[in-house]
Amino acid sequence: MSFSKKVIKVGLLGMGTVGRGVYRLLTENADHIESRVGAKVDIKKILVKDINKDRGISIDPNLLTTDAGDILNDKDIDIVVEVIGGTGVAVDYVRRALKNGQSVVTANKDMMALYSKELFELAASNNCNILFGASVAGAVPIIRTLRKSLASDKVQSIYGIINGTTNYILTKMTEEGADFNEMLKEAQAKGYAEADPTADVEGHDAARKIAILASVAFNTYVTLDDVYVEGITKISIDDINYVSELGYVIKLLGIAKIKDEGIEVKVHPTLIPKSHLLASVGGVFNAVFVHGSATGEMMFYGQGAGELPTATAVVADIMDIAVDILRNVPKIVGYSGYTDKPTLPISESENRFYVKILIEDRPGVLASIAMVFGNEGISLGTVIQQDAKKPSDDTTELIFITHATKEKNLQNVLCCIKDLSGVREVKSVIRVEG
Ligand code: NAP
Ligand code: HSE
Repeated sequence: MSFSKKVIKVGLLGMGTVGRGVYRLLTENADHIESRVGAKVDIKKILVKDINKDRGISIDPNLLTTDAGDILNDKDIDIVVEVIGGTGVAVDYVRRALKNGQSVVTANKDMMALYSKELFELAASNNCNILFGASVAGAVPIIRTLRKSLASDKVQSIYGIINGTTNYILTKMTEEGADFNEMLKEAQAKGYAEADPTADVEGHDAARKIAILASVAFNTYVTLDDVYVEGITKISIDDINYVSELGYVIKLLGIAKIKDEGIEVKVHPTLIPKSHLLASVGGVFNAVFVHGSATGEMMFYGQGAGELPTATAVVADIMDIAVDILRNVPKIVGYSGYTDKPTLPISESENRFYVKILIEDRPGVLASIAMVFGNEGISLGTVIQQDAKKPSDDTTELIFITHATKEKNLQNVLCCIKDLSGVREVKSVIRVEG
């Protein structure tokens, strides 16, 4: 096939970690990319905040600008790549690009977890496209896989380790008994954490990503506000050690499931058996475990962040759009069937639970707690009294792992238990999967 257009022009909004990776791939692998696309893909302009900043690579200074209009008003620019991040100017620039008919590639999870509906509609009405493969799990091709490879299948559930920072912290705590705060500092120093690491450790970064995955997997619009979120700040070394003895590890999972009544989307620390594939995903690596009706179980694993891994996902999207432009089909095939589906409240979610309770070490306390579980119809799978590790002479810790029950039933139990005579404190409640 021969194309009349010989060069696809790209405008880069942002030249930080990801922008630099995109620049490097598009320049260093230019011939390889041209042979795969069927035309050159050239960067025409790069928007930055500080034009004099040392970027560690040599860039033609004429490419740099601080005026977004140099990209957004240039009809010669076919594809706008947004790698500024956040929900401030980035959203405004993306709206402007789409309204101008310029297709957009973005790595911005904050934006896509809030504004995807509006942006897809804008793209569709202006006969252009918006792709966002780098917004979840960096180099791991999970969005592309859900949109394309699994397009004919009905995905039932997704379990994702989609925040590298928290996986790094939990891995180090599990394997080395390391301190939470020290490990967070290490993750920040290595550049894994967000500018405000609260977004990592409180689960909000993973929540944005699971909202995006749920939207694509279930053909609907899930926003950040639909996601139940719990981070890892309350996870103690004691819990990590206890659950290890029981054959589990703790991971921060983004979970999305589709049921007859609606969609369940949540992020929380989760006990998974050591034998589960996700349990072996250590350090900053990301992995997404998908269960499809036709395909069965699959796991996608790789680097969830970093300059070049993330840039490969961005450039793959640029190349897809470039090919569509060359063939004159820049339309939003994958999103036209999106329908609204209700999201279910966390109270309806069903899990097994790990519960650790500090009690007075005297007869009858365990029996009274077990009775409360029984009254709520919750069966107990495991009950352990940690006599060998008693916190003091007159107290001890009880550990329960329940059978599956609705979250609201467990909350009723916890409410009653805390007022029982002999119960000092419910110290941990962690959901169990697998
Ligand atoms: P970054 O290193 O902070 O870079 C941001 C870039 O945007 C910088 O070049 C900055 O200019 C420019 N910028 C910021 N505000 C601007 C403004 N008002 N006007 C013009 N330019 C502005 O960010 P990043 O790590 O590359 O992340 C970019 C996006 O990729 C984010 O959405 C992020 O969530 C996503 N992402 C990142 C990773 C990763 O590994 N870093 C992985 C997956 C997804 P100056 O350089 O002049 O300051
Ligand atoms: N802070 C994120 C993480 C970066 O730790 O996974 C990639 O989105």
